[in-house]
Amino acid sequence: MTTAPNRSSLTITRPDDWHVHLRDGAVMAGVLGHTARQFARAIVMPNLSPPISSEAAAEAYRAQIMAALPDGADFTPLMTCYLTDGINPAELERGFASGVFTAAKLYPAHATTGSAHGVTDVANIRPALEAMERIGMPLLVHGEVTDPAVDIFDREAVFIDRVLAPLVRDMPGLKVVFEHITTAQAVQFVTDAPANVAATITPQHLHINRNAMFAGGIRPHAYCLPVAKREEHRLALRAAATSGSAKFFLGTDSAPHAVAAKEAACGCAGIFNAPYALESYITVFDDEDALDRFEAFASLNGPAFYGLPVNSGTITLERRPVIVPDQLEAGGALIVPFHAGETLSWSLCT
Ligand code: NCD
Ligand code: ZN
Repeated sequence: MTTAPNRSSLTITRPDDWHVHLRDGAVMAGVLGHTARQFARAIVMPNLSPPISSEAAAEAYRAQIMAALPDGADFTPLMTCYLTDGINPAELERGFASGVFTAAKLYPAHATTGSAHGVTDVANIRPALEAMERIGMPLLVHGEVTDPAVDIFDREAVFIDRVLAPLVRDMPGLKVVFEHITTAQAVQFVTDAPANVAATITPQHLHINRNAMFAGGIRPHAYCLPVAKREEHRLALRAAATSGSAKFFLGTDSAPHAVAAKEAACGCAGIFNAPYALESYITVFDDEDALDRFEAFASLNGPAFYGLPVNSGTITLERRPVIVPDQLEAGGALIVPFHAGETLSWSLCT
């Protein structure tokens, strides 16, 4: 990593996005370029309708993504398998061995967008988890309980106690990524866990706390799941991301929804942050005086955890303002990006 003396620019190994929703069809073709412009690889979430739960479906989805890549793009989608109660462990093993699946995603049923076919009880997928532990296939976890008696702001912390801590204890060889963590409890859990447990952190959870959803009125574009928490949690996440710990890495959770689906009586969860993700993250590292740790978070820790090589080549970010548009168009849909209308102080050089 090289830094200009005045820190007016930062050059790092090409980064990856370890958690993205690319969708499918025309919207996928419309949003893909934003991710491919910034990242060499991305872990592609499988919560389509119907979900990507077989090797054949993942192969077809991967081919669709490759066909939609802009000319000259150098981007590799890493596919995931959506776990269901009825998942066949042999399907996971086959898909992992063939290189189609990089990991499998656990959505507790009804926890979030596109999770209706998710797992109703981790006990139901025990044979699949045992196979994954044996073959070294990472388990990616949406860590929220769905118990309606649990306050929405407590669902991640309760998930640690009820599900994740027992799972990690019972299956010490299972690689687990606690996705898009939002609480100090999650930071603590991952920090204290053995090296087979890591976490991704999104830009929005580093930038906003739950007040952002209610600033002067209801703000649907600040709503995602897990929902942003209190300020003390945001500060814990910023400390973790910029700590230099190899357990925390970049995963945007970019989740595009059309304006009409967000600005509605029952608006969808999800923040579309792909277009300016690196610009968003680097401002956090800059504000925390941790620019020298950005490369580890964005480009090194993820591959190390997944057992993949780091990317060749570099990207450069410059301290040059960029204005984030109010709306972007993707596949005929208008989408409001994260930081809409704001000026970010760093720009990705292209
Ligand atoms: C995601 C989506 O829209 O697919 N939404 C979100 O708020 N993050 C699903 C998810 O990752 O929870
Ligand atoms: Zn997600």
